[in-house]
Amino acid sequence: MVLSIILIYVYDYACVELVNPMIVCVCNAVTESQIRLAIDEGALTVADLRARLAVTSECGCCAAQVDEALARRLLEIAGARASDPSARSLPATR
Ligand code: FES
Repeated sequence: MVLSIILIYVYDYACVELVNPMIVCVCNAVTESQIRLAIDEGALTVADLRARLAVTSECGCCAAQVDEALARRLLEIAGARASDPSARSLPATR
């Protein structure tokens, strides 16, 4: 109930800061954890994330946050691989 109220509130003001920082795409209720998991499972671009999670497919206001989440996770994975070349990927976060 509280989450629904927050989503409705944020949807009305979709281009302002999100009330819940964990939700990246308000239109599709996609969290950063879901984005990170999709990246861990092979998504490499915003288009990949759109195909898997529908982020950026409605109002598009989440595009910058999706791009930032993607860049952050890819940098984390690259850093982990640099420090441990045998590591194929980081464990999924939820
Ligand atoms: S917030 Fe509208 S498409 Fe993601």
